[in-house]
Amino acid sequence: MPEDRVIIFDTTLRDGEQAAGAAMTLEEKLEIAKQLERLRVDVIEAGFAASSQGDFLAVQTIAREIRTSIIASLAHANLAAVDRAAEALKEARHPRIHVFLSSSDIHIMHQLRKNREEVMEMAVAAVARAKSYYEDVEFSPMDATRTEPEFLYALLEETINAGATTVNIPDTVGYAIPEEFAKLLVGIQQHVPNIGKAVISVHCHNDLGLAVANSLAAVKVGVRQVEGCINGIGERAGNASLEEVIMGLATRGDFFGITVGIDTTQLYRTSRLVSDITGFSVQPNKAIVGQNAFRHASGIHQDGVIKERSTYEIMDPKTIGIPGSSLVLGKLSGRAGLRSRLEELGYHLTQEDLNKAFEDFKELADRKREVTDRDLEALMSDRRRSEVEVYKLDHVQVSCGDHEIPTATVRLINPEGQVLTDAATGTGPVDAVYVAINRILQVSNTLKEFSIGAITEGTDAIGDATIRIEKGGKVYTGRGSDTDIIVASAKAYLNALNKLMAIEGVSEARAEVST
Ligand code: KIV
Ligand code: ZN
Repeated sequence: MPEDRVIIFDTTLRDGEQAAGAAMTLEEKLEIAKQLERLRVDVIEAGFAASSQGDFLAVQTIAREIRTSIIASLAHANLAAVDRAAEALKEARHPRIHVFLSSSDIHIMHQLRKNREEVMEMAVAAVARAKSYYEDVEFSPMDATRTEPEFLYALLEETINAGATTVNIPDTVGYAIPEEFAKLLVGIQQHVPNIGKAVISVHCHNDLGLAVANSLAAVKVGVRQVEGCINGIGERAGNASLEEVIMGLATRGDFFGITVGIDTTQLYRTSRLVSDITGFSVQPNKAIVGQNAFRHASGIHQDGVIKERSTYEIMDPKTIGIPGSSLVLGKLSGRAGLRSRLEELGYHLTQEDLNKAFEDFKELADRKREVTDRDLEALMSDRRRSEVEVYKLDHVQVSCGDHEIPTATVRLINPEGQVLTDAATGTGPVDAVYVAINRILQVSNTLKEFSIGAITEGTDAIGDATIRIEKGGKVYTGRGSDTDIIVASAKAYLNALNKLMAIEGVSEARAEVST
């Protein structure tokens, strides 16, 4: 790797998935990994193999399928966890084991209940074990920014001696301030004698809203790997938002004097996919990928942009993959028009998939006068979800009104192709639908959040429902869209239940539900 290139390390599938409600199925993780490979991220942290059977399978599957990016598995600093990571990575073309262990006194005393000497020993032994499997080993002293610098330097020196090829400096609790963080990184370069043998990396959390600023300050003083998540998702306030880090480095190459190996035109598509799968919508004013990021509302700005784009735009939206025109399709549009619009949006479909998408499109165009880019994205998301779902929604019908008892009939198709039908009453039409679904699936859960919004303006707009349900302390998110908001709500609930069953196993998920 040339010295002036920053390695982009994506941890959306590991740290990102730690965000409450971001649980993903194996198929969803694989789909994101494939998109990250298209984005050309250098390293994909696919999971934490020793933490659960689900994570092990995710690392194993992604390691098997992804051929260009390095695939990393996180591992505690203990030999069994390292062995498990190595096992999961067996089929990777470019495997990396990422060992971590807390290094701050706060963590050592209160969480680990050990002393510094023991921590040093555990870290060195785990890194050496990882090295016995693979050449590429990363070590992270957790809570590095609150670690006593002399101990941090010693820990880095010894783990590099044991074989670490990357040493990552996590700002685990998002405590650092850019100037101070840069000083710590300069200190590491000055006081760790063998630091030249390893790449220095940073991993910043966003508790003070400084994750991206800290990451960029680190690059400025010589750090050559940055870790983060798409859309900035992650534990608590999230991780450094990778699209912001990437575009900061790419746009201000003049300042940083480095390059990144990323295909930035895949950023928008990656952001949409992650938002769609996790159910975390991207705020409209979010830098780079927010809906308003390139919208000029004020007259003065519009005037400037019309005369000369660079007056108010520092990036060309096309470099992020944001579709240039907002051509609207309708009832009379053909297959070729649909294909070209979808390609502009980043969907490259096989003929068979295009035919399916065209059927959905025609159905939508019959119900809706104009089909916009946002409608097409909703349609593609709905198709993606229904393809991976085990239980499929076949039919939903409700009767309701101010003098009616809301009643719903729901028909589902199970994995064996059998039709399952039930009916129920509820306090409203959505409640009736949910009770009917519960009667069929018998998966107990608590509804935590339900929201519905319109994707575009107008009374014929597609409704987009998001739902979060909880079971056993874990939150599962579901989404569904349709011009009929009751159908959208039914799809969202079924999507969340399918996710729960895919992650926990159908029999574990099933329990008596009081209806
Ligand atoms: O935030 C953190 O410290 C981490 C480590 C495991 C790298 O996620
Ligand atoms: Zn983290």
